[in-house]
Amino acid sequence: METQMRGKVVLITGGTGGIGKATALGIAKLGATTVVVGRNKERAEAALAEIKAQSGNPKVDLILADLSSQADIRKLADEFTSRYDRLDVLLNNVGGLYAKRWETVDGVEASFAMNHLNVHLLTTLLLPTLKASAPSRIINVNSSGHRFAKVNFDDLFAEKWYRGLDIYVNSKLVNLLVSYELARRLAGSGVTVNIADPGGAMTDMTNGMTPEMVPWFMAMAWPLFRVFQRGQTVEKAAVSSIYLASSPDVEGVTGRYFNPSGKEVKSSGASYDQIASRRLWDITEQLLANSPAVSTVRASA
Ligand SMILES: NC(=O)c1ccc[n+]([C@@H]2O[C@H](COP(=O)([O-])OP(=O)(O)OC[C@H]3O[C@@H](n4cnc5c(N)ncnc54)[C@H](OP(=O)(O)O)[C@@H]3O)[C@@H](O)[C@H]2O)c1
Repeated sequence: METQMRGKVVLITGGTGGIGKATALGIAKLGATTVVVGRNKERAEAALAEIKAQSGNPKVDLILADLSSQADIRKLADEFTSRYDRLDVLLNNVGGLYAKRWETVDGVEASFAMNHLNVHLLTTLLLPTLKASAPSRIINVNSSGHRFAKVNFDDLFAEKWYRGLDIYVNSKLVNLLVSYELARRLAGSGVTVNIADPGGAMTDMTNGMTPEMVPWFMAMAWPLFRVFQRGQTVEKAAVSSIYLASSPDVEGVTGRYFNPSGKEVKSSGASYDQIASRRLWDITEQLLANSPAVSTVRASA
């Protein structure tokens, strides 16, 4: 175990499987107290044991929560702050790509909830702890697919039309726009917000993809696309998140997008539309209006 992150506390959503687990292992190897969030108890406990054994770091902890549920997200934030008095890195890694449209217990379209809303709510709830721990970092995991996305203000919750991958990338673009808005609002606070693009990897998410979920040109080249996907490892996909969580090179850097190698690059032109960012920020806050946490960000903005 290296010691580069000893004394730091890192919280990783979706840290018990896929890219998030590889990210958690990388961060645990650097010596940080690594708190992973997953939903399935058995799988989470197995992941925890594996991360501890492979990293040689005993300070790996678990909080169970279903991040599609706002009540669970609030419980997660309470549980975290009752166990820890600092948070150096919040790594919003979890995401969701679904074959069919469904709504969460809160009545929100699931792609929007899993790729955007959970990130905003958890971040908002943990912001006081992040500020008290400054300099601290928020890392939101996005997707290069955002480059093919658009924000459909007329059908933000995919009520009129649904195709899995399109709605997934659209919700990733929504999160990117709101992440940049958060970075602007937190300027000077000591809390940075950056975006990690993992590239691709074979995980539960990508294993669940079917030709019906993708545009026709991808469906046509489906066997080729799957071969390409199989060549991508979770370890490689974790590089940008681990870099953003640990590197002194990005201390104080905020509102930037990093490619799968951890190199800063521009995101899509649409992602820099500040009018859309503010509009989505307001919509997000309205959706979470019953959450007592929302006023925290508004007050500090
Ligand atoms: N894989 C790719 O090719 C790819 C490409 C671009 C971007 N990304 C992005 O990278 C991130 C990680 O993707 P991934 O492919 O590793 O995803 P994944 O395999 O689906 O992630 C699995 C992890 O997410 C957790 N999880 C799933 N749904 C959850 C929920 N409702 N509540 C709490 N935890 C939940 C799982 O916990 P349980 O096992 O307990 O359910 C597990 O820890 C996502 O943001 C994704 O959009 C991935």
